[in-house]
Amino acid sequence: MYTQSLDIPGNVQPIGASADVNASPEQQRFDAVMEADGKIEPQDWMPEAYRKTLVRQISQHAHSEIIGMQPEGNWISRAPSLKRKAILLAKVQDEGGHGLYLYSAAETMGVSRDQLVDALHAGKAKYSSIFNYTTPTWADVGVIGWLVDGAAIMNQIPLCRCTYGPYARAMIRICKEESFHQRQGFDALLSMMKGTQAQKDMVQQAVDRWWWPVLMMFGPSDKDSIHSGQSFQWGIKRISNDDLRQKFVDATVEQAKILGVTLPDPDLKWNEERKAHDYGAIDWEEFWRVVNGDGPCNKERLATRVKAHDDGAWVREAALAHAEKQATRAHQQAA
Ligand SMILES: [Fe+2]
Ligand SMILES: [Fe+2]
Repeated sequence: MYTQSLDIPGNVQPIGASADVNASPEQQRFDAVMEADGKIEPQDWMPEAYRKTLVRQISQHAHSEIIGMQPEGNWISRAPSLKRKAILLAKVQDEGGHGLYLYSAAETMGVSRDQLVDALHAGKAKYSSIFNYTTPTWADVGVIGWLVDGAAIMNQIPLCRCTYGPYARAMIRICKEESFHQRQGFDALLSMMKGTQAQKDMVQQAVDRWWWPVLMMFGPSDKDSIHSGQSFQWGIKRISNDDLRQKFVDATVEQAKILGVTLPDPDLKWNEERKAHDYGAIDWEEFWRVVNGDGPCNKERLATRVKAHDDGAWVREAALAHAEKQATRAHQQAA
């Protein structure tokens, strides 16, 4: 899924002016690729800051996919029908797959999956804060599909054109699957909105819980967005946080009307002059509090992830032992 926090601060130094005539031939080639909006591949030379930015972004994205399995995963055994259970199983499994494509993409930049996972487990790496919120009802699962996956798609479509080839290619497949996720969420909510008053109330309450955290998924406002400038120059970022947020609000207002839910913002209204919706102020204090570890479920999510990794140690050890046995056998047969 999902990617707020893609430009949450890290230790990245800005590169020098790209039109530097004294630049090395490698730098000049890199600059020419950026200029032509081409692709950088793993074997190509790249500036260290470009590599670091992408390792941070792709790994934050991978961690988000894997941690994002938890809030919905805990509803698989409680899905209201066999059909909804099968859909949710497929969706949560997709998210695991997204994490694996993305760890692989990050590995092409010279880091190992173990290093990235260790950083997550040690609390040094970020993942999207949206997964630190709770899913107390079945309607929350539908709202995650509709709004969280919907916001993720808005964020991620421009990444299909990222200048780093392996990331761009991973994103094309991921976006297709996210589109299914968004539709299944909307469909689940639509069924509930055709049901009893209690079901309708459950959907509305879930929308009330998720609306503001979802708007935060697009990251800090453009004026406070630390890495955006450099990421634009490198063709990693294409549309600003505020512009993406606006596109999302405008698209979602129409979908909310079809569902028959109210978006919990008294300031939300069409602005004829801007040809866009105005919306209320986002609570950035809450955003930073959750990013920095003090959300409703930060500790629980990380503890669950670490336990799952530890519980799976025997599987990794068994796979390695099997691979060694196969290699020894192949060696003996060849001798
Ligand atoms: Fe995903
Ligand atoms: Fe998703």
